[in-house]
Amino acid sequence: VRIDPFEIERYYERWEFAAELMLSSSDCESLSVADLFALEPDAERRLAELRLGYTEVAGSRELRAAAAALYASAGEDDILTVAAAEEGLFLAFQALLAPGDEAIVEVPCYGSPLALARSAGAAVLPWRRRLEDGWRHDLDELAALVGERTRLIYVNSPHNPTGQALDADDYARVVEVARERGIILVCDEVYRGLEHDEAARLDAGVDAYEHAVSLGAVSKAHGLPGLRVAWLASRDGTALAAMRELKLYTTICSSAPAELLLAVALRHDAELVRRSRGFVLAHLPLIDALLARHGDIFSWVRPTAGPIGFPRISGVGDVRGWCEGIAAEHGVLLLPGYVYGMDDHVRLGFGRADTGAAVERLEAALA
Ligand SMILES: Cc1ncc(COP(=O)(O)O)c(C=O)c1O
Repeated sequence: VRIDPFEIERYYERWEFAAELMLSSSDCESLSVADLFALEPDAERRLAELRLGYTEVAGSRELRAAAAALYASAGEDDILTVAAAEEGLFLAFQALLAPGDEAIVEVPCYGSPLALARSAGAAVLPWRRRLEDGWRHDLDELAALVGERTRLIYVNSPHNPTGQALDADDYARVVEVARERGIILVCDEVYRGLEHDEAARLDAGVDAYEHAVSLGAVSKAHGLPGLRVAWLASRDGTALAAMRELKLYTTICSSAPAELLLAVALRHDAELVRRSRGFVLAHLPLIDALLARHGDIFSWVRPTAGPIGFPRISGVGDVRGWCEGIAAEHGVLLLPGYVYGMDDHVRLGFGRADTGAAVERLEAALA
């Protein structure tokens, strides 16, 4: 596979474990294995007794049942487990796109959809959201991008990096546009549940549209990024089968211990998501205050969903160099916007328990 460098993950590979405090992470405070054991009385025993044989390609029945229960319309056979959301994106873009296809990808976005679509030989049509519009989607622009060769549309709500949720009417329109031509809609829902106002939660893609592929994970809203297992849900049997076929070349089947622990977590979905939302809602005012004190350099559209936001930044010179200097000298990590192709922004994250300490550290750096 020929593929562009993944700038976000390259940056984190360099800095995430070198800086003491994270003020840009997209995950929420993580849980321990013991925390998961505490959710169900027999979880620890079941894990200890688990035989480490190969697992079913589509995922264990137990896990698929737990994932399907999150949706109104999906059954166990509509679920495919994957080794993390990242594998889910890889399978979706590589299996569902071919040379000559066009893929519409909302930008800015987590880098892999753009790179994966290109590496599959598809032409990528960026659907741009702009700060000046409050990051709102431009539906006329979407209609103008769709054509005879459009095979796939990628949307991500809650959104990385802006922290905005797709508006419900706009979402309905996106589904309508996709349905008119039977276009596959990849709904990246890895931040689902972290809408600041729970009423803003959208129906999952798999429930909204028969050719949607929902990507679900527990890395962000459940505090379990190290589990490295996630799932795809789709009622489009042909699309699901194509992704399952490709999985035979990536991981064949997922990690048995991770599948067991993920099933435990998903049976307690609401409780785990509530805990993460608690961190997000408690810390957002700290970021508000920080940005208000430094209005000379930061301006933003306040996030409404998820643990991250994407302020514009000015007056600091080279933003990447500025961020790296702060990481090296003060031990607090921001994510410079160049990784999204937007040099004059930084990503801030506020889902970790030590967000207060990270804000104080940044204050000291700014002083
Ligand atoms: C929108 C989006 N999709 C997918 C992923 C990949 O998630 P995971 O780390 O669980 O593989 C990320 C990670 O940051 C993300 O932000």
